[in-house]
Amino acid sequence: MKYKKNILCIGAGYVGGPTMAVIAAKCPDFKVTVVDVNAERIRAWNGDRLPIFEPGLLEVVREARGRNLFFSTDIAAGIREADIIFVSVNTPTKTFGQGAGMASDLQYWEKTAHEIVAHSDRAKIIVEKSTLPVRTAEAMEHILQENKKGIHFEVVSNPEFLAEGSAVRDLLEPDRVLIGSRQTEAGLQAMREVREIFARWVPAEKIITTNLWSAELSKLVANAFLAQRISSINAVSALCEKTGADVGEISFAVGSDKRIGPRFLNASIGFGGSCFKKDILNLVYISRSYGLIEVADYWEAVVRMNEYQQERFVQAIIREMFHTVVGKKIVLLGFAFKADTGDTRESPGIHVARKLLEERASLVISDPQALENARRDLAAIVGATAGTVEYEPDPYRAAAGAQGLAVITEWPAYRELDFEKIFASMGKPAFVFDGRNILDHRRLFEIGFNVFPLGKPSLTHFA
Ligand code: NAD
Ligand code: UGA
Repeated sequence: MKYKKNILCIGAGYVGGPTMAVIAAKCPDFKVTVVDVNAERIRAWNGDRLPIFEPGLLEVVREARGRNLFFSTDIAAGIREADIIFVSVNTPTKTFGQGAGMASDLQYWEKTAHEIVAHSDRAKIIVEKSTLPVRTAEAMEHILQENKKGIHFEVVSNPEFLAEGSAVRDLLEPDRVLIGSRQTEAGLQAMREVREIFARWVPAEKIITTNLWSAELSKLVANAFLAQRISSINAVSALCEKTGADVGEISFAVGSDKRIGPRFLNASIGFGGSCFKKDILNLVYISRSYGLIEVADYWEAVVRMNEYQQERFVQAIIREMFHTVVGKKIVLLGFAFKADTGDTRESPGIHVARKLLEERASLVISDPQALENARRDLAAIVGATAGTVEYEPDPYRAAAGAQGLAVITEWPAYRELDFEKIFASMGKPAFVFDGRNILDHRRLFEIGFNVFPLGKPSLTHFA
């Protein structure tokens, strides 16, 4: 046989694609196949314009594609030949029925379990890569073990911790790899087989093994802790604006304590992305379903604070632009939920745009990677409001004739813009609302802008 082992990943998204590309690059003797129901996505993975923008990803894909990395829509064949199957399908928040708006929608995940049963003719290890509610593996086991063929499936949990924009680096040099398994002989053997994959490039001390439930729950808790830090500093930013304290100075002072640490303390218009809100709401739903009301309320406040911060930003724009933005040209600098990605899922930009369009502003959306997604996100909103939207990748062209700039995404290129040129082309008075605190506020003020950072004193030319 040409390959030592056959690895399959069901779901060729932001996690499945990059994760399997790195596994294939690091394990040239394993055949790695990624399958998806979305034929267009698979076509893109097989071309030079990958379906997701991620620095360094194309190089890794090119190294392994056609050698031991394959993208396909033939799910049945993939399942048949696989020894180990990673399931990396989407698990969004449920939008209907019981648990709507809170619980995970497990329909895609469950469908894969049935497909695995239908197309398998021998034992396999099934790896939960998707983020799932704690104890989902139990349900997966029930579906898989019900098969009439007498096949044994061992379910292992291996949650993914990569962040978008740094996915390749996170996969190559992870803080840890987590593998949870049943503590039986078969479970531990399956865990060892999955560990063997990552041990090709991840130091042994960084591979953590736990029981199944700890692995599943650790993923939700890690995201909740990260999001909680952002909501904490964002809560402080509101207090700073009332007291003259500077949230940047506070982040530095507080983060210098080794027990707290400096990372993830940047005040912002709020966290976005497909997972923080979804995973916390899932944690809240699970806690509530076990009757742990105080635990649920505690974590829910992290999401509420995030909504408050997004709304506060919009309110500041309307208030400072003299309580009306009707017909005013306002540029959203950035639309992706963070820099270095084209992903706009749950981007605070969507909320800001919706609210400003309801106020009948004339928006121009500028972003180096996310305009296609922005167009899709705003299509329905634009029709339902009296505001207008244009899309312009060039920030200079976007700003010409505008009254206001609002920084939504922390793209490093925005720091380097020629703001004198931009100011000269704008209507007056000209406003900057820095939702990421990335610009040189003093300098912008000296150029002539009225500047509104987050959690710092504003700089205006009004008496
Ligand atoms: P995604 O939506 O980008 O990709 C999921 C893919 O699964 C889609 O392409 C979809 O077509 C495919 N799919 C759905 N059902 C299928 C089926 N029955 N058969 C074959 N393909 C199917 O999602 P994602 O961002 O990659 O996230 C996947 C999981 O990983 C989620 O549970 C998410 O919470 C978790 N996660 C995401 C990130 C991230 O940065 N995006 C990081 C860590 C964990
Ligand atoms: C996050 C986690 O960081 C990953 O570990 C996890 O695997 C992933 O979620 C997931 O489960 O999907 P991601 O959402 O891709 O990754 O990106 P982050 O870097 O965590 O940023 C999330 C949001 O928080 C962004 O909108 C970002 O701008 C914002 N943020 C981040 C802040 O507002 N302030 C900060 O200090 C840091």
